[in-house]
This record gives sequence, C-alpha cells and structure tokens, in this order.
Amino acid sequence: MKNFDSYAVFGCPINHSKSPRIHQLFATQTDQKLTYFAQEVNAENFVAAVIDFFEKGGKGLNCTVPLKELAWQFADKKTERAKSAKAVNTLIKQKDGSILGDNTDGIGLVNDLTFNHGIELNNKRVLILGAGGATRGILLPLLEKCPDYVVVANRTVEKALMLALEFNHNFKAGSLEDLKNQQFDVILNATSASLTNELPVLPENLLAENGICYDLAYGNQPTAFVRWGNLHNASKSLDGLGMLVEQAAEAFTLWRGIQPDTKSVIDLLNSERM
Ligand code: ATR
Repeated sequence: MKNFDSYAVFGCPINHSKSPRIHQLFATQTDQKLTYFAQEVNAENFVAAVIDFFEKGGKGLNCTVPLKELAWQFADKKTERAKSAKAVNTLIKQKDGSILGDNTDGIGLVNDLTFNHGIELNNKRVLILGAGGATRGILLPLLEKCPDYVVVANRTVEKALMLALEFNHNFKAGSLEDLKNQQFDVILNATSASLTNELPVLPENLLAENGICYDLAYGNQPTAFVRWGNLHNASKSLDGLGMLVEQAAEAFTLWRGIQPDTKSVIDLLNSERM
C-alpha cells in the first residue's frame, strides 16, 4: 500500500507464522498505517533478501528459524540482549541507514510470565531444559529478574557447560541425568523436542509443590511438556503463545514508538485454538 511503512518476517518454513496477523492487530489497535508480510527465506538467500527488503524502503524485519544467527551477523549494531543471545529476531532501520539488531524473545517470555500470569522469578529455583538458540535468547532477561538460581540442563551436557562458560557461570549447567533429586519452582522447556511432540526424559519429582511449567513452543493442542506439567500437578502449565505475542509487541514498540495492548490479542488467538 502506497505510503504505508513496510515490515515483514523472514523464515523457513513461514506459511504458518502468526506474526502478520499479530502485527496487523497491533496496527489496527494503535491506528498505525503499516503493512507486514511473511516471506519464505532460507539461509542461502538471506543476505540478498534482507538487502532487497531494506533497499525497497522496508523499515523493520523479524527473523525466525533458521535465520536468527544470520540476522545477528548482518546487523551493523546490536543491543546488549542481542549480543548475549548471539541471535537477532528484530532488525530496525535507523535514521542514518544502519541496521540495528535486537532480540525480543527473552523480554517477551519475562513479560508473559510476570504481566500476563503474575509469576515473579525473584527467589525462585528456575530450570531451563535445553542449551540451544532458544535458551541463549532468554538467559539474560531471565537472569536480570534475580531468581534464587538458574540451572540449564541439556541432553548433550557439553553444550550446557559451554554456555555457562560464556555467561561467566551466572547459572549452573548440567545434564538431564543430574536433575535427579533436585526440585524447581519454575521449569522452562526451551528444547526443540515439542516441535516433534517429544519430551526430554525427566525425573518424577522435579517440579516443586505449586510449581510452574512453561513451554516456549506452542500449538493448537497442549504440547507434550504442557501435558507433563499438568500430570505433575503444576499450578500453571503454559505454552509460548503469550511469549510470541509479547516478543512481537516489543518489536512493534521499537519500530513504531507505541506500545500495543497484548492481552486482547492473546485472548483472541487463544479463542481460535482448536
Ligand atoms: P533452538 O534454536 O530451537 O534452541 P537448537 O539450537 O537446535 O534449536 O537446540 C535444540 C535444543 O533442544 C538442544 O538443547 C537439544 O539438545 P541437544 O543439544 O542434546 O541436541 C534439545 N533437544 C531437542 N530434542 C530433544 C529431545 N528429544 N530430548 C531432549 N532434548 C532435546
């Protein structure tokens, strides 16, 4: 549309992305004139596609799987949280033409936990399952919330240990087997197991009484980890739909300088689940 600022999400696969819908809802709500489209872009044609997008006047871009590390490499400047994540999900064209890279995933998770679900992390024993890109993206904003301590447990223990080294041992790292006889108030599933409806092998008594489970993934049906949480009497067992909307809201605010209301969008998307 003529004179409308242009935004997009790049990724592969991208056809099921909810981002265009979410951003259009934000735009309507805040009376912003913009377009937002999804484009299938793979690692091989990423740089050419991003250059083309910004040359044609694009104002901001979201990057999702498998492009977040490439977006991190592409950005001229990066925010602190993007630097620590080594992954970028939001590119912003600056007034001087340079491209700023940010990562809004971690703050999206923290905002969903605290504002939408009233879950405070300070003094909590927090477990993160997985030590891949998703974990990297959430660690800094999570640690800033001052939990009692954070454990990152991964199937491949070396990856968790490497991550701890990188983060100056601000959290403990271990294997899934090390979790035996430990208990946590909040367990976050940041593995990609949910995408194939699998579940890491977890000890029975891992979740403390009134504990909370949160799967960074989401689906129309409860994920395997959300079901695990319900089975183990979690006071709340949540998936990442709220995080998705919150990370989008953070990107929208960076781009447009206006904060959208997330609750109405989360409620709408929730009501559409089958
Ligand atoms: P993402 O960017 O989604 O985090 P990733 O960087 O490939 O993807 O990381 C995937 C994470 O999920 C890894 O921590 C992986 O464990 P390994 O490092 O041992 O591969 C974890 N993962 C995937 N499937 C899993 C499963 N079935 N059980 C346990 N962990 C799993």
